[in-house]
Amino acid sequence: MSPPARHPVCLLASEVAPLSKTGGLADVAGALGKALHAAGHDVRVFTPGYSSIDRDACKARPVPGLQQLHLEVGPQPIVFSVLRGELPGGAPVYLIDCPALFARAALYTNDADEHVRFIAFTRAALLACVAMGWAPRIVHCNDWHTAFAPLFLRTTLRDEALFATTRTLLTIHNIGYQGIFGADRVRDLGLAASDLPRLYAPDFAAGRINALRHGILYADAINTVSPTYAREICTAEYGMGLEDSLRARSQDLSGILNGVDYEVWDPRIDPYLPAHFDAQRLEVKAQLKGLLLTRLGLEADAAVPLAGVVSRMAAQKGFELMYQALPRILGSRPLNFVVLGSGEPQYEEFFTALARDFPRRVYFRRGYDDELAHWIEAASDLFLMPSRYEPCGLNQMYSLRYGTVPVVRRTGGLADSVQHFDPGTGSGTGIVFNDFDTPALEWALNTALDLYAQPQHWARLVQNGMACDFSWRRAAAEYLRLYERL
Ligand code: ADP
Ligand code: GLC
Repeated sequence: MSPPARHPVCLLASEVAPLSKTGGLADVAGALGKALHAAGHDVRVFTPGYSSIDRDACKARPVPGLQQLHLEVGPQPIVFSVLRGELPGGAPVYLIDCPALFARAALYTNDADEHVRFIAFTRAALLACVAMGWAPRIVHCNDWHTAFAPLFLRTTLRDEALFATTRTLLTIHNIGYQGIFGADRVRDLGLAASDLPRLYAPDFAAGRINALRHGILYADAINTVSPTYAREICTAEYGMGLEDSLRARSQDLSGILNGVDYEVWDPRIDPYLPAHFDAQRLEVKAQLKGLLLTRLGLEADAAVPLAGVVSRMAAQKGFELMYQALPRILGSRPLNFVVLGSGEPQYEEFFTALARDFPRRVYFRRGYDDELAHWIEAASDLFLMPSRYEPCGLNQMYSLRYGTVPVVRRTGGLADSVQHFDPGTGSGTGIVFNDFDTPALEWALNTALDLYAQPQHWARLVQNGMACDFSWRRAAAEYLRLYERL
């Protein structure tokens, strides 16, 4: 029997855990890189060398011959160098080091040159492959930031022998971010005049260039991060203007549910926790709840359920459903509530006010905090994700492993990873509601609290969730099958 094919995979991602992270893309890029490397593939992860990255921690060293390289994005000369480091588990990670673009206050900005930063990153990563004499069989792009790679491979790089057999995959993690910039910046793409007709004419005529759209048009295959979201984005309700282009590629569009990196998210080994538990040691989970409540200055009554939220605070996540539901429920039933996140001011203000109104029962931490995120997963009884849309969502899958019952809306990856609990049969892993409105969320929360008050049902629900397995082995195998089909 011949050994399994060893794929050279160039994985392009604008954030990679544990180096840089604002959300789930980082977790996925890091974990997929790790899983492919562990399976023996020649995966090389490319990511911007943000100034916030701890270069010593990932053993990043300058790659000889890849220092002070030049490229131009429109009129702007860019000088970059390449550093090679390692992800946990040993997968090589290449940092595109360019302080002029990546030494900024945050990973993403609203600066006028935001598109330039990621066009430069994408081109620099492809140039680095050429400079290393490395021929990737797959260039795997993620989200708008790297979505121009397929177009570049078909135009400016079409004569590059190393890419002669390269195939491209675009993974859409979130269609809400498309990388739109003005058509007056078309020079920044560096296309020859004869290639300009490849740009999507209706957008161009309307004065826009849409990065994600060009990934959808030119990648050999497209996937998103759950089967349900793959169907949803072909509709006007969820496609955010890209549904026509997606429908035109429906033969090449699929959904692969993300996995969980159980070396990072598992209550049996979680390094952020002072004590560990599994489905047979749930008394430890109860102790952690007591510790967290005390630490955060909340009423430490073990009998009162604790609900948690860890999230970017964006419209996607459905916080406005909580505006009326939470004060009503907090005012009428025993419940403590811990929230971690930051983002749009109206949501931050809502949680600040809620914590002020219920000082002993609601705690809000505005910001980003890995340790508190793990504590909230471990110590809470419920985890709330009433998303308006959710391509996959990771926290509900983390919650299941930590015995924390997810309360989710039936959309995208939430629909694919959480089954509504049926007390009659004892099957199901969470509380799932359908409609995006306040009564539906209130119904879901009340249902969860009613079940919590019935220990036999609750224990079953918790055990069902803890028995789920969303490991990356399955998801990585699906990606490999997709690469092989290209
Ligand atoms: P999204 O990618 O849309 O933000 P996901 O559920 O896929 O949603 O992933 C979010 C990831 O980011 C999870 O690992 C979650 O724990 C983490 N996260 C989000 N906000 C924070 C925060 N404020 N502090 C720490 N981790 C956070
Ligand atoms: C996105 C989505 C989230 C998904 C993550 C990783 O940011 O909002 O649902 O889990 O990417 O794929």
